[in-house]
Amino acid sequence: MPDDAPDIRRGLEGVYVAQSAICKVDGVEGRLYYRGYAIEELAANSSFEEVCYLLLYGKLPQRAELTQFNEALVKERELPEDIIYLIKALTGKERAIDVMRTTISALPAYDSETYDSSAEANLRKSIRLISKIASIIAATGRFSKGEGYTTPNPQLGHAANFLYMLNGTEPEAEDAKLLNKMLILHAEHSSNASTFSTMVAGSTLADLYAAVVAGISALKGPLHGGADEQALAMMRAIGSAENTGRYIDDALSGKQRIMGFGHRVYKTYDPRARIIKSDLEALQNSADAEVKNLTSIALAAEKIMVERLGKTRNIWPNVDFFSGPIYTALGIPPELFTPLFAASRMPGWCAHMLEYWRDNRLFRPMEQYTGAVGLKYVPMDQRE
Ligand code: ACO
Repeated sequence: MPDDAPDIRRGLEGVYVAQSAICKVDGVEGRLYYRGYAIEELAANSSFEEVCYLLLYGKLPQRAELTQFNEALVKERELPEDIIYLIKALTGKERAIDVMRTTISALPAYDSETYDSSAEANLRKSIRLISKIASIIAATGRFSKGEGYTTPNPQLGHAANFLYMLNGTEPEAEDAKLLNKMLILHAEHSSNASTFSTMVAGSTLADLYAAVVAGISALKGPLHGGADEQALAMMRAIGSAENTGRYIDDALSGKQRIMGFGHRVYKTYDPRARIIKSDLEALQNSADAEVKNLTSIALAAEKIMVERLGKTRNIWPNVDFFSGPIYTALGIPPELFTPLFAASRMPGWCAHMLEYWRDNRLFRPMEQYTGAVGLKYVPMDQRE
């Protein structure tokens, strides 16, 4: 290939950047595996904590290993006092996702192992990050409602404790179970934009905190993790199931993207969306009128989009589409959707870093220069 005609793959579409044994995304068959286990099995049987272990250590834990891992996570739930003040100071002044990103950036100040790059220290930091990010989001949620910080409850599992810290009351077992499933579904997805960003930053041998902050920055955009909040905003704008068809037709004829649909890899129904669709259907009977209405809009939109773009253009619902009504049913406000996505994806980002650092190579792709060369410098007073 001559230098003046390089093979440019826009958006790195179809480009392989690494080998990995963490996750397989089969975009043709609509299948997803973490460390070889089908997402359907993990979502039905596992806990988020167990999936974190699986992703980080590469195998399902024995009972004693999981107990020890759970204890390590519980121990890391507390936030340094300064961090709680920082969250409080920023909440309301910037978006929750930015509060979270800034706060994660501040955590190294309280971690003596930040610059210890051994695999053991990075595992310990991964556990800290998985645990603390949930506490940070819950605290942001509390402060944004004008309420106080809730101290973590060591008796509760990860999902239940998050809801407890956010809402101040112990959740129903069913709610904790549903959130647990959502966390599992979002925990990992190979080299998507945020994981790749994490890996790019990490490949410079920056520390784990710096690497995941790059991941959070990439996740927040509406073409990636930010789509869940936008999808809910669209459902609210639609207003009722009856309006859905008209709204979508207007949007599509105006060349607008419908958030929560389409995927770079899945050219079929996203298996994660398929799993939560049944939970969404169950919400049709919710006693909460808003949840019931959002659910009916989401189901109507899904049906219309499958006809309009799924069957004809392979643009199917992705996992972000159904999250809104489910999180609303769990008492999670929309500004926390994308932060919660980051909390779910933290084990995936960390697992990728742990794996990539075992055989690190700096990411440094090329770009084709299309500007001029050899221009003569013109002094300021002679410029036209
Ligand atoms: N609504 C309407 N049209 C769409 C949508 C959509 N959601 N997604 C893609 N298209 C159309 C594009 O307009 C484009 O049409 P054209 O060929 O007539 O110009 C065509 O499909 C291809 O789109 P691309 O952006 O080139 O496809 P890409 O592979 O880059 O798309 C993406 C992936 C960015 C996710 C896209 O589908 C999108 O913008 N979806 C909405 C945002 C979203 O839901 N993101 C979450 C993704 S999942 C996740 O990150 C967890």
